[in-house]
Amino acid sequence: MIRTIEWTDSGVVMLDQRLLPAQEVYLTFGDYRDVAEAIRAMVIRGAPAIGIAAAMGIALGIKNSFAGSIEDLDATFGSICDAIARTRPTAVNLFWAIERMKSVYDRTRCHGIEAVRQALIQESVSMHCEDVRSNREIGRLGQELIPSEARILTHCNAGALATAGYGTALGVIRAAHQAGKKVQVYADETRPFLQGARLTAWELQKDGIPVTIITDNMAGHFMQRGDVDCVIVGADRIAANGDVANKIGTYSVAVIAKENKIPFWVAAPISTVDLKIPEGRFIPIEQRNPDEVRRIQGVLVTPENATVANPAFDVTPNRYVSGIITDRGIARSPYRESLRALAEKSGGPE
Ligand code: MRU
Repeated sequence: MIRTIEWTDSGVVMLDQRLLPAQEVYLTFGDYRDVAEAIRAMVIRGAPAIGIAAAMGIALGIKNSFAGSIEDLDATFGSICDAIARTRPTAVNLFWAIERMKSVYDRTRCHGIEAVRQALIQESVSMHCEDVRSNREIGRLGQELIPSEARILTHCNAGALATAGYGTALGVIRAAHQAGKKVQVYADETRPFLQGARLTAWELQKDGIPVTIITDNMAGHFMQRGDVDCVIVGADRIAANGDVANKIGTYSVAVIAKENKIPFWVAAPISTVDLKIPEGRFIPIEQRNPDEVRRIQGVLVTPENATVANPAFDVTPNRYVSGIITDRGIARSPYRESLRALAEKSGGPE
């Protein structure tokens, strides 16, 4: 089993995803500021995993606080949440997790500092368990959509490493594989951070699921030749109308999939749906350091100081999306209605 993130007595432990697959190094963070920096620097990444790291970072900050009164703790809690909120803007799971921690704080505040501490730790650990459950449910529902023999293209990493375990898009692929379906995967390498080449390939190899790495610009070629039966990706934020923000390059894949009549599925927990955002164009897109493009694994591959653009995500309009597989069911067009119905459905993992 891949241990992406864990709460321990000595701090929050994360597998350093910047070093995979060459090295499997676990880092222990004892200070919430370091957890915030780990999210920003992509020690941990992937929307659901970012949410859990955010929650554990907040719990850690409060656990370590020297606040002598509940009023002091209020101020500390506010500045911890602000620091965590400033790390990465696109994945809504980060803000969803902060809101959840805020409501636990408000509920337990009247019972005193120790009660708040215990409740926040407990909440972050519960979120970890819930995420694995919700991914398994996404897998169970999503695998029904996969033919008994399927060549599946995926972009970025929406696997165990991007979640508390099992994965969303890779959860569907895992579930199909476990159901005895003959699946093989094309993994887009996903420049510039190489989540596909480094992380998706590593995970799938560990599970014995056949995987072929392709560079991002090869995806259209394989789809046009009839070598891809469906596409499955994760999401960082889904607007109320079903527009999907995901790793940069997803939009191009979706357009080419539609042109070639290939189903394009999105797999994400309901916590990735942001009903407050009416359309994808309002989703904030993170701009990352140009050096991530100038260099590959530290080696300069462009002229020094070349002007570079590095948006980390793009938005795929809902018309390219065949369905959104959530832990509460599969949403289909018209998404405004179907997503709202799933979000309001009770009995989900929240
Ligand atoms: O920049 P990253 O690696 O955090 O981006 C990750 C993605 O875009 C994933 O596809 C998305 O978060 C879904 S993860 C289940």
